[in-house]
Amino acid sequence: ADMPVVISLLNSLTGIAAAITGILYANMVMLVGGILVGSAGIILTVAMCKAMNRNLFKVLAGTFAKGKQSADAEEIHIKETSASETAMQLAFAQKVAVVPGYGMAVAQAQHACGNLQKQLESRGTQVDYIIHPVAGRMPGHMNVLLAEANISYDRLFEMDDVNEDMEQYDLVLIVGANDVVNPAAENDENSPVYGMPIIRAYQSKQVVVVKRGMSKGYAGVENSLFGADNCHLLFGDAKTVLQDLLGQLKLV
Ligand code: TAP
Repeated sequence: ADMPVVISLLNSLTGIAAAITGILYANMVMLVGGILVGSAGIILTVAMCKAMNRNLFKVLAGTFAKGKQSADAEEIHIKETSASETAMQLAFAQKVAVVPGYGMAVAQAQHACGNLQKQLESRGTQVDYIIHPVAGRMPGHMNVLLAEANISYDRLFEMDDVNEDMEQYDLVLIVGANDVVNPAAENDENSPVYGMPIIRAYQSKQVVVVKRGMSKGYAGVENSLFGADNCHLLFGDAKTVLQDLLGQLKLV
């Protein structure tokens, strides 16, 4: 899954090689093209490493920082919810945020998510999408998925645009995201994800996490959000769950 970073790095090396060839053969087009490709690749590589809070060497070596997590699996007491309960919460919410993650891509749930958004908007609910720069497994993964479902760009927000104002959301619906909303990145110095910027879903009024089971995310660490007082888990495949939510919402 670190492949996108490696591909970006190799791409930048191609550019650098082209630039050097441009110098050797005094070819200005090759030189300029090489510099552009090389620098764009390096910028993207650095941006991805920064968003994952991992240095390039560790990405290339395929290792995560070692550290004992404070929140062990048995310490997290989760609260399960149902599609009908969540539909009720959605029906009474004025502002809803959707946080998509890798699981949305696995389930191909983007169209179901768009349909749910339309239904909510027709009832007067504002629906925003909050995108983490490394959600999914490649740069822009979530943006591509949501564009495929014709989600309007003006409803898409970057993490930094809304992180200071998460209390505004009555409900944050997390669809197949895990690491990118893990509060351990902010409050557990022993966690391997400590220091990674996250979407502060835990600060919203209510959180519902859609996932199939208790599997960990890419970083392989427990998520302390799942045990938070304001968080409920809605188990199931993201596409099926979102379709179910839409059906239930129409009944409310
Ligand atoms: P993850 O932390 O990988 O979590 C994905 C979650 O989706 C899992 O907890 C999984 O739980 C759930 N899931 C999987 N299939 C599902 C389905 N069909 N329906 C519902 N849920 C499903 O994802 P994230 O929050 O997007 O974070 C991305 C991670 O990848 C980060 O750690 C990031 O550093 C890393 N990464 C990103 C990139 C780029 S460039 N985007 C590149 C390399 C690495 P269940 O199995 O229990 O359902």
